[in-house]
Amino acid sequence: MARSSTRIKWVSIFMLLLAHLAITVTADDGPVPNGDFEASPSNGFSSDGLINGPSEIPNWKSNGTVELVQSGQKQGGMILIVPEGRHAVRLGNDAEVSQEVKVEKGSIYSVTFSAARTCAQLESLNVSVPPASQTIDLQTLYNVQGWDPYAWAFEAEEDNVKLVFKNPGMEDDPTCGPIIDDIAMKKLFTPDKPKDNAVINGDFEEGPWMFKNTSLGVLLPTNLDEETSSVPGWIIESNRAVRYIDSNHYSVPQGKRAIELLSGKEGIISQMVDTTPNKPYQLTFSLGQAGDKCKQPLGIMAFAGDQAQNVHYTPDSNSTFQAANLNFTAKAEKTRIAFYSVYYNTRTDDMSSLCGPVVDDVRVWFSGS
Ligand SMILES: *[C@@H]1O[C@H](CO)[C@@H](O)[C@H](O)[C@H]1NC(C)=O
Ligand SMILES: *[C@@H]1O[C@H](CO)[C@@H](O)[C@H](O)[C@H]1NC(C)=O
Ligand SMILES: *[C@@H]1O[C@H](CO)[C@@H](O)[C@H](O)[C@H]1NC(C)=O
Ligand SMILES: *[C@@H]1O[C@H](CO)[C@@H](O)[C@H](O)[C@H]1NC(C)=O
Ligand SMILES: *[C@@H]1O[C@H](CO)[C@@H](O)[C@H](O)[C@H]1NC(C)=O
Repeated sequence: MARSSTRIKWVSIFMLLLAHLAITVTADDGPVPNGDFEASPSNGFSSDGLINGPSEIPNWKSNGTVELVQSGQKQGGMILIVPEGRHAVRLGNDAEVSQEVKVEKGSIYSVTFSAARTCAQLESLNVSVPPASQTIDLQTLYNVQGWDPYAWAFEAEEDNVKLVFKNPGMEDDPTCGPIIDDIAMKKLFTPDKPKDNAVINGDFEEGPWMFKNTSLGVLLPTNLDEETSSVPGWIIESNRAVRYIDSNHYSVPQGKRAIELLSGKEGIISQMVDTTPNKPYQLTFSLGQAGDKCKQPLGIMAFAGDQAQNVHYTPDSNSTFQAANLNFTAKAEKTRIAFYSVYYNTRTDDMSSLCGPVVDDVRVWFSGS
């Protein structure tokens, strides 16, 4: 008896170890090698920061005017922004940094990176894993710290791919150009569609890599391709971004992740869900505040097919969110559901960082009897 229970104990420890191994072996998730640019070049960080050889930055290849900037470094009286740690990289006109990364052919990956613009209003950053690419517009400052984490997703067409960050700009001042830092990657999976819910990833739990330390969430810029979305199932069909938030730094209605709608009507998240024509459905979701001192009122427009409804968040000292719903009759095999914020909200403490209502736990189900 005693012996068999000891055996059971050892077997379960072994199983636990196996489970642990399985998790650590398959995880390519997290920062890419020297993704924070803190590793010292072989002859040290130079005083002007300029990179002279294509392989001078450990783990990266560079081309063009690339500079390793240091925190506290000034230019024209302005302190340059270094999102995390002591170093970051600045890309001059047409300059790029790239790194070969090992991925799994056919899988979808999301890249998280922090970016800041320096001098010009119109700076942008071209992130690519050829042939896929996206140009991220850095014109809008979403928060007062002057930088933001962003996410971009791609489908791996090979097992070894090249991740490239390029400044497509041609500015008068060649020392201007975006600063990047904190680059990480995560392999995404598409959650199964639950039986009683037509919405994929309606709780937003699957999404881009988030740094535990970073309290700024991750911006999701325009992405019209639902096949390669950093938040599987969802697209961002507007010019401006919405923010992916985590429960470590924000109030999240359910689970660990949710979406904060920024930028009023210019920040729209949507999904096409499977429906049966002429059947009645109900769309339900949680509407809340993120706990980021966002100036009230908070309100959203929710859409389901040809129905639209304006819902206001009612502050309640006992809860950071409320349930909301919308009834509709499907007109087709696919119905678009979408959300945007009705107001342009900013934080009460700095009056300029963008914020807004939180949406989570989105469900669509057949409501007939
Ligand atoms: C560096 O960039 C220039 C201009 O974009 C390009 O012509 C050249 O081929 C690049 N060099 C390498 C080694 O990639
Ligand atoms: C971004 O970079 C990719 C790969 O270098 C290129 O194919 C694409 O045309 C670029 N896009 C823009 C808008 O410059
Ligand atoms: C997180 O914070 C710790 C302590 O401040 C720091 O050492 C580490 O580099 C930070 N990591 C990231 C990814 O920001
Ligand atoms: C908050 O909870 C308390 C105690 O359960 C209750 O008396 C009060 O009415 C609640 N307030 C709101 C706004 O629901
Ligand atoms: C939708 O229908 C349900 C059930 O009939 C009802 O309880 C709910 O109030 C309706 N929602 C709206 C917004 O009218």
